[in-house]
Amino acid sequence: MEWGSAAFLFWLRCHLTFTKRFMTEVNFDQITSYERYKLMASLIVPRPIALVTSLGANGVVNAAPFSMFNMIGEDPPILMISINRLQDGQLKDTAANILHNREFVVHMSDEPMAQKMHACGKAFPSDVSELTAVGLTPGPSHTVKPPRILEAPIAFECVLHEKLETPSRYVFIGRIQWLAARDGLIDTKAWRVNLKDYRPVARFGASFYTRTDDRFAISDNEGELPNVNTAIDQM
Ligand SMILES: Cc1cc2nc3c(=O)[nH]c(=O)nc-3n(C[C@H](O)[C@H](O)[C@H](O)COP(=O)(O)O)c2cc1C
Repeated sequence: MEWGSAAFLFWLRCHLTFTKRFMTEVNFDQITSYERYKLMASLIVPRPIALVTSLGANGVVNAAPFSMFNMIGEDPPILMISINRLQDGQLKDTAANILHNREFVVHMSDEPMAQKMHACGKAFPSDVSELTAVGLTPGPSHTVKPPRILEAPIAFECVLHEKLETPSRYVFIGRIQWLAARDGLIDTKAWRVNLKDYRPVARFGASFYTRTDDRFAISDNEGELPNVNTAIDQM
């Protein structure tokens, strides 16, 4: 056998070994949407959690957690939450409320309020306020009608900027108009976050959560000590 073909066969064997032996390959076109959900929701983790307050047409304050949530830009300052339809095709209260009055407040939840945040995820009737049911305290917002949750370390007051409708969901893009942060969390002179005292919980698939207080910094140059005071954060 010539050297060229021997080298090719060796490369092919390595290639097949590594791709076939160590990776499970899944064609997303050939599995059901429920199977896709299970894989995506357990693999794309940890996810931040938005605890969203919104106001019903009946005047009831609604609160529900959403982990298909993230920041998507700062100019304009926008974030997204993705809300699936119920099995009968009806909208969840949060989606119906945002479509109705285009305002909502996104809160970050820390560990002391995590159990109550989780409880807000139960399916309460539209005429019941989750805040009253689980024992969280509403307080007035600055720029929108839905109230803030006073126990939350962070509240972003949002107006609906855009929405995307898919067969299974509404994706709401909210434009942040106002931020309320627990005293001591942000330095509004240096615009830094005091990360030492900020420990939001995150979703880790199904009913699992993860804490965010086991942190490490990575140096730009391998072998050097990482900088623990970056331009925006203080560890
Ligand atoms: C931690 C957590 C994260 C959740 N994330 C989502 C999500 O991203 N999208 C969604 O549609 N439902 C999500 N849910 C389920 C909703 O919170 C739940 O359906 C809730 O009852 C909706 O309430 P509402 O009808 O008052 O809007 C999540 C539940 C929990 C506990």
